[in-house]
Amino acid sequence: MKLRFHDHAFQRCISGTCGATFDVGETLVACPRCGELLDVDYDWDRCPVPGSLREFEQAWARRHDPHAFSGVWRFHALLPFAPRELCVTIGEGQTFLQRADWVAGYVGLKPGCLFLQYEGMNPSGSFKDNGMAAAFTHARLLGAQRAACASTGNTSASLALYCAVTRLMRAVIFVGSGKIAFGKLAQALEFGALTIQIQGDFDDAMARVKEVSRELGIYLVNSVNPFRLEGQKTIMYRVLEGLRWEVPDWVVVPGGNLGNSSAFGKAFWELKQLGLIDRMPRMAIVNATGANTLSQLVNTHCVTWNGGRPNRESISQFYQAMDRENRRASTIASAIEINRPVNLSKCLRALEWCRGVVCEVSDQEILDAKAQVGMGGFGCEPASAASVAGAKRLVEQGIIGKEERVVCVLTGHQLKDPNATVAYHTTDQEVFNKVLGCRGVRRATFANRAVVVPNDLDEIIKALRLYG
Ligand code: F0G
Repeated sequence: MKLRFHDHAFQRCISGTCGATFDVGETLVACPRCGELLDVDYDWDRCPVPGSLREFEQAWARRHDPHAFSGVWRFHALLPFAPRELCVTIGEGQTFLQRADWVAGYVGLKPGCLFLQYEGMNPSGSFKDNGMAAAFTHARLLGAQRAACASTGNTSASLALYCAVTRLMRAVIFVGSGKIAFGKLAQALEFGALTIQIQGDFDDAMARVKEVSRELGIYLVNSVNPFRLEGQKTIMYRVLEGLRWEVPDWVVVPGGNLGNSSAFGKAFWELKQLGLIDRMPRMAIVNATGANTLSQLVNTHCVTWNGGRPNRESISQFYQAMDRENRRASTIASAIEINRPVNLSKCLRALEWCRGVVCEVSDQEILDAKAQVGMGGFGCEPASAASVAGAKRLVEQGIIGKEERVVCVLTGHQLKDPNATVAYHTTDQEVFNKVLGCRGVRRATFANRAVVVPNDLDEIIKALRLYG
């Protein structure tokens, strides 16, 4: 069979002053004319899009068909850049929206108002698999042999897994030294990825992987790749599915490299343009205080999308000051420990489309929220809990109303980063200080400490009487 793309899909520069278009068969991570990011776009008049979102429910009856089973490709009509039968799937996106009243109580919302979109249930344990399915589809049609990424851990775990399962490409991953949680590193190593650990942080790794892939013609799967973000749109389709196709009032998402927020904005914008939803939800993007580039740029320096002409001057001055003062991102939420988010401009666009807000939460707030998420039965990693901590803040500030319907995205699984969790609940002050104290975390507000007892039946029974 000849592998080819759909000719109603193309790539388009998002800049308000450029807008150049390119074939979907080209491998691009930026506009060759102006350097801005690219979208995958469609000539929707030539795409068979359902008349109503309910029509997607028909796929539920065809679970034997891998493309109907996939939580990404059952929405193929909304990301139709490749023929459906050629789309790569390893069973990603079996994630669903769950009502979480316990966590709602913590956040300050009325029962029935908070929902968690639990992306840790993906094959590699994070939301990245949604995007990887789409990027792999693009790479497959191009016949790529190797794929690379820089990563704070989850992208690399996902890439390594897709390579191991599909055998389509060899995985090359770049990670900063000591900057990646063990659960994620373990995955990349075990799935057989060529793992390049460089001295430096995520931003250093990102800059290098771009150079290396350009030089060696390696397919880049970071979220500067617009096909990745097409896959990540489907997280929001599943949110709508979980709400029986009703639009939530708020979507709250952690902000790192800003791929998710960019993809979510595009997902809703397209649905609105297609007449499949009647209003846009609002979006809240949550930075860790120790990695707050977006929050600083938006809230302090008032940078906006501005019709595709964001204030480049302000942005570059901010980055120059960051370098001059040697400020580097530092947070327990290592997944979002990023200085220069690559999708900044797309994210600014999403903020405008969704009347978005950006807030910051401390590592203390993140870990306390994570403990509450856990007590509610939804384990997640620290970066994911930023969404819940952020929602709590925004409710306290009156920005989110107590009776509004809020969706927090839990981006990654609890077991990705057990160090942070164990340190939070430990009785060993030294461990606490080493992992958390150094990040300004002062107390484990909701610690569930192990009870240490001698190996003696009477003592054990005494302890159970006391604590049980
Ligand atoms: N949550 C988790 C668990 C992540 O792994 C990431 C990003 C984010 C949130 C932030 O999402 O970049 O779309 O704003 N992890 C990337 C990685 C950077 O390399 O795995 P974003």
